Amino acid sequence: MHNALTRFDISNRVALVTGASSGIGKHLARALAQAGAKVVLIARREASISELATEIQGHALPRDLCAVNDFDTLANDAAEPFGAPTLLINAAGVNLRQQVDAVTEESWNQTLQLNLSVPFFLSRALVNGMGNQGSIINIASLQSTRAFANSLPYGASKGGITQLTRAMAEAWSPRGIRANAIAPGFFPTELTQAVFDDEQKAAANAAQTCMGRNGELDDLVGPTLFLCSDASAYVTGQVLYVDGGFTAK
Ligand SMILES: NC(=O)c1ccc[n+]([C@@H]2O[C@H](COP(=O)([O-])OP(=O)(O)OC[C@H]3O[C@@H](n4cnc5c(N)ncnc54)[C@H](OP(=O)(O)O)[C@@H]3O)[C@@H](O)[C@H]2O)c1
Repeated sequence: MHNALTRFDISNRVALVTGASSGIGKHLARALAQAGAKVVLIARREASISELATEIQGHALPRDLCAVNDFDTLANDAAEPFGAPTLLINAAGVNLRQQVDAVTEESWNQTLQLNLSVPFFLSRALVNGMGNQGSIINIASLQSTRAFANSLPYGASKGGITQLTRAMAEAWSPRGIRANAIAPGFFPTELTQAVFDDEQKAAANAAQTCMGRNGELDDLVGPTLFLCSDASAYVTGQVLYVDGGFTAK
């Protein structure tokens, strides 16, 4: 039997993290690096990911993921610094928070493209390089299962990502690549700034959880290391809600 803790070991694994310039992606990229992974960082804001790359000895790949038309080339670029990534965190996302009547074809497409299409096409381009020990983590949401006002396209994309996660597991787990999703509750990032700036709203969201508080970015680290590592070797196609019990109530 292995030492139980070695199952959590991800040292020297190569990870690709999208949305690494801020919020959840940035925090998880740092955590993976602290755990010994070599991390490739994708986002549009070059200065932010370059600074993080210097800090964690990772590699910055500035890209607009909505403008990528050849994901195989992107996969090759991601493999250049450290070898082919076997861990992928699809954290880039957008929520435009428009009233239903304000949603346009353009804003709908932008949301669905970044939140749903990009995770599929990027993952598919990477799986061939993952061998038989890959782990893909998609970032779902409370809105994967709950309808919130002013977020219709976002909710549709996040409902879709949970089913995409199951379909990825069905397609790729026979060859040793696992796909799971983490569904965070409310965490303070640029995406949720409007929610956290409104103290009443933030308190109401905290009160919706079993634990009586909103998330802190560190709450996502353990679940991410678990899903990346062999500690979760028999876990695939699952959605792990890291929400203080919001969806349990
Ligand atoms: N915060 C929460 O409470 C919460 C809850 C549930 C789910 N989530 C999900 O968690 C993920 C991360 O969100 P967050 O809260 O960390 O928000 P955030 O701080 O706004 O981060 C979003 C990230 O996506 C990147 N991004 C946006 N458009 C991009 C594009 N076209 N190409 C490449 N990168 C792009 C942004 O980088 P650039 O602007 O530099 O491109 C940024 O790094 C999202 O999928 C979100 O839906 C968040």
